[in-house]
Amino acid sequence: MRKIGSLMLCLVCAASLASAQNRLFNVRLNQAGTDSSQGSTSANPGNPVYLDVTKPLEERIEDALSRMTLEEKVALCHAQSKFSSTGVPRLGIPAVWMSDGPHGVREEIGWDTWDAAGWTSDSCTAFPALTCLAATFNPQLSYRYGVSIGEEARYRGKDILLGPGVNIYRTPLNGRNFEYLGEDPYLAARMVVPYVQGVQKNGVAACVKHFALNNQEEERGSINVNVSDRALYEIYLPAFKAAVKEGGAWSVMGSYNQFRGQHCCHNDLLLNQILKKEWEFDGVVVSDWGGAHDTRQAALNGLDIEMGSYTNGMTGGKSSAYANYYLAQPFLDLLKQGDMPVSVVDNKARRVLRLIFRTNMASNRSFGRFTCPEHNKVAREIAAEGIVLLKNNHAFFPIPAGKYRRIAVIGENATRSLTKGGGSSELKVKQEVSALEGLKALYGADHVSYSLGYVSGKYQWGKEDKAPLNPDSLLRVAVEVARQADVVIFIGGLNKNAFQDCEGHDRKTYDLPFGQNDLIAALSKVNKQLAVVLVSGNAVAMPWLNQVPAVVQAWYMGSEAGNALADVLSGTSNPSGKLPFSYPEKLEDTGVHFYGSTSYPGDHVNEYYKEDILVGYRWFDTKKIKPLFPFGYGLSYTSFAVGKLTSDKKDYTGNDTIHLSVTVRNTGKVDGAEVVQVYATQEHPSVVRPVKELKAFSKVWLKAGETTSVTLAIYTGDLAYYDETRHDWKLEPDTYILQSATSSAETAIKSTVRVRLH
Ligand code: BGC
Repeated sequence: MRKIGSLMLCLVCAASLASAQNRLFNVRLNQAGTDSSQGSTSANPGNPVYLDVTKPLEERIEDALSRMTLEEKVALCHAQSKFSSTGVPRLGIPAVWMSDGPHGVREEIGWDTWDAAGWTSDSCTAFPALTCLAATFNPQLSYRYGVSIGEEARYRGKDILLGPGVNIYRTPLNGRNFEYLGEDPYLAARMVVPYVQGVQKNGVAACVKHFALNNQEEERGSINVNVSDRALYEIYLPAFKAAVKEGGAWSVMGSYNQFRGQHCCHNDLLLNQILKKEWEFDGVVVSDWGGAHDTRQAALNGLDIEMGSYTNGMTGGKSSAYANYYLAQPFLDLLKQGDMPVSVVDNKARRVLRLIFRTNMASNRSFGRFTCPEHNKVAREIAAEGIVLLKNNHAFFPIPAGKYRRIAVIGENATRSLTKGGGSSELKVKQEVSALEGLKALYGADHVSYSLGYVSGKYQWGKEDKAPLNPDSLLRVAVEVARQADVVIFIGGLNKNAFQDCEGHDRKTYDLPFGQNDLIAALSKVNKQLAVVLVSGNAVAMPWLNQVPAVVQAWYMGSEAGNALADVLSGTSNPSGKLPFSYPEKLEDTGVHFYGSTSYPGDHVNEYYKEDILVGYRWFDTKKIKPLFPFGYGLSYTSFAVGKLTSDKKDYTGNDTIHLSVTVRNTGKVDGAEVVQVYATQEHPSVVRPVKELKAFSKVWLKAGETTSVTLAIYTGDLAYYDETRHDWKLEPDTYILQSATSSAETAIKSTVRVRLH
């Protein structure tokens, strides 16, 4: 009876809520119509077109704009809280709610502070870090990532998801590489487009960040990057361009650093000339938090919404001072004094309205979903597909359940939460399966012994924490555990503490931290059956490489980390991940570090990207330096034979498509996937060009013994270089060599075709 009673009560509640909402809606309509007369002089009384979803978007924007006062327009251009900006309350146009990104929807934090808001309903699904996604070389998975994280953002009432990040991996020291898609502009571009489309399918704007040249954390707020136009266009911009032009991104975040003397959150060249003019971006430029520094520049140089300045957050100073933001009262004053044309604020307001109509006010917006089994499934698949098998002597892996009785798992990353820390991408998660939990579930707790081996310290923003335990005794205990095991799986790497893979600072050294090199060496002395599993978002030095039979590169893999690792180590999933960046043997082997501190980290004022276009494998190839592990590399439990690459023609025009095909056969005994990569080389370039560049790839799944034909396409225009003298792309008539490969290493080149371009 009580149940029926409460059900009826609910129905009554629902009905009265619905009618209240209807009333509200009508009131809103009426108010909008009436109130419009209080707006600007061009106010349009009559039916408010901006609420009519059947009308074209641009008409709705103009209508809304025509009803707004100058104050209301300015209010759209800056924060009202740490993670939201104002709508137009009088017209029923809602505020814009934002959240980090890019690996999950961040916990709710205070209105004015960075403190957690203490909600109990905001524990999300953690998806793998973007390095892991890049390592899948699987754009379809990227789409599913985008859809899933977009659903979580939508459910949580967010209009902008602050991600994905596509800054190019320039140095292994960059503390934020784990949030990005690797060193190659083509790979990053192919992977970012579906992510953006997936997120936005939910009526949530992706915010592609950090535009641009934020390739290090050290002095990120001030360092002035000097880079050639050519490197800018060929290396650092393509992924952003693809996100905007192909992905249709609705927002972009400016970066903290400067470029040619102007901060990137109000940089005329980047934002006005390139993003908005050249690429016809019609969305919103959001500042990074505290990235705006001047009213006139912010107003004129392309910023649309200013976030994070002048609160007791990122930039310190006054509390709740939103009215003092550069794009708040000071902007309004300039407009009122006639010192700034109204068209400037109109342009920004239009963009913000467009974003609101695309998101919160979109009639067909889905409702999203949160922490559902489907999201865990996607997270697990991405994690397993992203894991890269670097070395596997004598088929060390897979280790199926039952193969060994005594398995030692050693290392802090086997148990540490790796969704915590790292800066703004930190997540509060509903579930995080640790590596140890995953392996115990697989092998049986009775067969797994665990020892910490080394210890780092708690995560603290911007500060290194001292390890609380004695490293020598930890090492001694771990060595004893290893000695008594049939097989040892060491799980270490970096973590998300300050000066590791963490926002705000870069790593101080290329070596593994916390004494891990010594520990691995000590373990290998007592047990030769030792595998190293690295969990990190960056390459590390591996002085012990020859002493261990197996090495696995895992990443920050989120909620399903331990299960995904168990899937791969046991062979339930055959590894198919490929490195999205090169691993140098030592730092000086990279172009960036070869040129010393002017090239990285700069002289505290300026930094010169002296390696120019020769980033990552482009440098290793061109300078004939052997990397420790090359870009695009990764082993499998099976083997593949890649056949002859063929092209549909031999002669092409500059506006043509080269259709390629190649057969791939799974020559081993288990099912698996291979990534066919096609690299292009120009035979007689008139300018320096990298020895080869990735221009196409395709991932194929083959049953044991199966053969398939893979087709790939390269648009001839994409073989051009950026000609600085003409400020345009130039495709030289020449012979181009296309090579199919299974990594960027010379030894992985399987077959070559030569095509002529006229
Ligand atoms: C980061 C951004 C992030 C923002 C909001 C900044 O410190 O650079 O990536 O979206 O904070 O948390």
